Amino acid sequence: KGKRAFIAGIADDNGYGWAIAKSLAAAGAEILVGTWVPALNIFETSLRRGKFDESRVLPDGSLMEITKVYPLDAVFDSLEDVPEDIKSNKRYAGSSKWTVSEAAESVKEDFGSIDILVHSLANGPEVTKPLLETTRKGYLAAISASSYSYVSLLKHFLPIMNPGGSSISLTYIASERIIPGYGGGMSSAKAALESDTRVLAFEAGRKKKVRVNTISAGPLRSRAAKAIGFIDMMIDYSIANAPLQKELSADEVGNTAAFLASPLASAITGAVIYVDNGLNAMGVGI
Ligand code: NAI
Repeated sequence: KGKRAFIAGIADDNGYGWAIAKSLAAAGAEILVGTWVPALNIFETSLRRGKFDESRVLPDGSLMEITKVYPLDAVFDSLEDVPEDIKSNKRYAGSSKWTVSEAAESVKEDFGSIDILVHSLANGPEVTKPLLETTRKGYLAAISASSYSYVSLLKHFLPIMNPGGSSISLTYIASERIIPGYGGGMSSAKAALESDTRVLAFEAGRKKKVRVNTISAGPLRSRAAKAIGFIDMMIDYSIANAPLQKELSADEVGNTAAFLASPLASAITGAVIYVDNGLNAMGVGI
């Protein structure tokens, strides 16, 4: 029987979430998507108007089907957490049930269970500021949107995950090595995400036989990455210095996610898997 995946963090066809959805769809999974509320309208409109049709093509020639798109804001766990200004914001008022707990409830009502949970989202309002210039507010916002959002997603979706299920997030080498320019507490947020991957692997493994892994991905020209401002330099640096001198394709990350979600990876949990053309293994650029 086919598996069902919920992928949080898709709002266009340029990011890792989209590529992961495609690889999972190509492997036969049913695709549910969680899209950030402010980006929901344009994403759904673009989907409906066929703007993504070329990028929906799967290896067998068929088009990836997204069974349902759910509105999601992963910095809010339940309706009580939402401040008035957000509630009344017109981009948010147009949708409902977009906190993490409500999204999980909606998926449960609609489909009963899922097998695969993917967290492909991050946000750091002060990402362009060095850590020394980052405010407490900016740092905590980065952790909330990029790290706790994953704890919360897994917490609320685990009860509807089938045993043997798999959960995957996306991280970046800036958690463990100095990457100047990846600021605003985003390096700290990724370090938290990787540490949480180990603890959550233990807890979700014991509780539900669910595996928890994170993919440390190389640079991709996504919408989020363009906002950081140094993505072209990082891509050039990787091509110049990595063991494999080629541009990383989002599909390579997507395929790794499909592997990690499959029974082929049945003994892999609590791991940080590098999909970066090997750049992480270099000690110096050469
Ligand atoms: P992206 O822009 O395609 O994905 C980020 C998504 O997060 C967007 O769809 C955005 O709408 C969503 N989002 C932001 N705040 C949210 C919130 N509060 N609630 C729900 N959704 C929210 O960009 P990308 O780069 O594909 O990012 C996906 C993951 O990959 C992130 O965790 C990122 O840190 C990670 N990553 C990206 C790398 C890159 O070079 N692009 C390298 C290594 C990791």
